[in-house]
Amino acid sequence: MYNLPTHIAIIMDGNGRWAQKRGLPRNLGHKEGIKAVERTLDACIKFHIKFVTFYAFSTENWKRDKEEIDGIFSLLRDYLKNNPDYFNKKDIKIKHIGELSPFPEDLKKELTKTENQTTNNETLTMTLALNYGGQDEITRTVNKLLKENKMEITYKDISQNLDTNFLPDPDLVIRTSGENRLSNFMMLQMAYSELYFPKVLWPDFNEKELKKALKIFSKRERRFGGLKK
Ligand code: IPE
Ligand code: IPE
Ligand code: MG
Repeated sequence: MYNLPTHIAIIMDGNGRWAQKRGLPRNLGHKEGIKAVERTLDACIKFHIKFVTFYAFSTENWKRDKEEIDGIFSLLRDYLKNNPDYFNKKDIKIKHIGELSPFPEDLKKELTKTENQTTNNETLTMTLALNYGGQDEITRTVNKLLKENKMEITYKDISQNLDTNFLPDPDLVIRTSGENRLSNFMMLQMAYSELYFPKVLWPDFNEKELKKALKIFSKRERRFGGLKK
C-alpha cells in the first residue's frame, strides 16, 4: 500500500450501543473496546503507521453517570497496569494529551509509570486523549502564553504550547459508529486532516476496518489550499 498516513487519530465511538444491542451494561462495551485498541495497535505496526491517538475520555464525558466514569477509569488503569511488557515488546511508546489533574491518583500513577517505562520505544507512538477537549486545550495554551507576557503571538507559539506539541498533525481521523462529528477532538490540529466516518461500532473495529480506512485515505487528494499536482 502507498500514500499512508503518518498519524491516525481515532474517535472510538459506539461502545455503549454495542453493549446495549446485546442487553449488556455500557461498561462491558468499553471493556470490549480495549480489545479493539489492541487489534488496532497491532494493525498500525503491521502497516508501518508511526503515530496513533485514541480519544478515550473527553472534557464533556464528565456529564455521564459516576458508575460509567469510574468503570472507564478502572478499565484504563488495569489496561496500563497489565501491559508494560506488552508495550515494550512491541516497541510502543505511550503518551497522553489532556489535563490529568481531576483523575484518580491510581490511574495517574499507572499512566506516568507506563509513559516513563516506554519512553525509548520507537516503532509506534500511542497517545491517549484523557480529559481532553480541543477548546480546553486552546484555553490552557493561551493562558500559558499570557503568563509569558508576550505582546503578540504566532501560530507557531500556539502549536508549540498545545498538548500535542510532540505530535505531527493527524493525517487521517477515523470516527466509528456512524456519527459525523468531531466532538471537540483536536480541532486546530485537524485543520487539514482527511475525515472518515465508518458505521462500524468501536468494539467491532479490526485490522480489516483499518485497511479499508487506509485504502480510502490513499485515494484522497490532499491539496492544503494549493492546486492539484
Ligand atoms: C465511546 O463510546 C467511548 C467513550 C466516550 C468513553 P460511547 O460510550 O460514547 O458509546 P455510545 O456512543 O453511547 O454508543
Ligand atoms: C466522543 O464521543 C468522545 C470519545 C470518544 C472519548 P462521545 O460519544 O462522547 O461524543 P458525542 O457526545 O456523541 O458527541
Ligand atoms: Mg458516543
